[in-house]
Amino acid sequence: MWQANIILQNGQLMPYAEAKVHPMTLGMTYATALFEGLRAYRNPVTGEFKIFRLAEHLKRLQAGMKVMRFDHVFDPEKIRQELAGLIRANEPDDDVYIRLLVYIEALGLMAQTGPVGYTAAASPRERPKFADTGMSLGVSSWSRLSDNASPPRVKATANYHNARLTQLQAKADGYDGALMLTPSGKVSEAPIACFFMVRDGKLITPHIGSNILESITRDTVITLYQEATGRAVVEREIDRSELYFADEAFLCGTGQEIIPVVQIDRLPVGDGKIGEQTRQMQKIYFETVRGLTPDHHGWLTPV
Ligand SMILES: Cc1ncc(COP(=O)(O)O)c(C=O)c1O
Repeated sequence: MWQANIILQNGQLMPYAEAKVHPMTLGMTYATALFEGLRAYRNPVTGEFKIFRLAEHLKRLQAGMKVMRFDHVFDPEKIRQELAGLIRANEPDDDVYIRLLVYIEALGLMAQTGPVGYTAAASPRERPKFADTGMSLGVSSWSRLSDNASPPRVKATANYHNARLTQLQAKADGYDGALMLTPSGKVSEAPIACFFMVRDGKLITPHIGSNILESITRDTVITLYQEATGRAVVEREIDRSELYFADEAFLCGTGQEIIPVVQIDRLPVGDGKIGEQTRQMQKIYFETVRGLTPDHHGWLTPV
């Protein structure tokens, strides 16, 4: 497998081990930072690499920087060129995961809004281990962050304190992963992925007001499902107890891709096997991200 040798910091490519951030930056002391996780997939037929939904990732990052009152706004074309250069410099021979991190470089007081620094790392990432077997989830006793405290639609690094506590509790309790509920007890999302379930033939996902990240993969699934079936995904509130009525369930995200869920709170989801709609969605998703079907939406950016 290829290795990450080169990293991008503030527009400069450099050896991976040489990127540096001072421990007293706001990025470190107050987690004044945002990030995006992206993937560039290798088309198995042509060997070309293309970044999936780069424009949407940069749009979300810029919206987050606005909410967090960062000084500086990225030029998306400059970032596109830099990310393409980063990928090429690492000479990958398989799919690439990109972590783009933006932070306040100032040292000292909390309310500073700049200067803004950024790094991007490209690394290999194996397929998540539960993609073929399905995972067991436990509903967490930690609540999902709420919009008026630490807005989950902003992909701020600070939000991952909540996600990490949830993930660690799930592991301690013997689950593969967790689902979080909103403070009012409705299903929200997993620590690093969004949730979908099938019930009586309908594909359902918590609506955007359920304290979720505005996930790009969630939007991709909604779009691809509509195109493949002619039916809309139902976006609504989901009660905790409705989880146990699901016939199928899966998680989705850039890193996680599409992961079947076969057990929740130790109860089988449906018959406890990976469902047909989930498998179908995995297939359509991989054909789309790898460029094996025509890119009608302009989702693939060449490197
Ligand atoms: C909390 C959370 N929800 C959902 C997702 C999925 O988002 P996306 O599809 O944009 O990668 C992520 C991805 O990292 C996440 O951290």
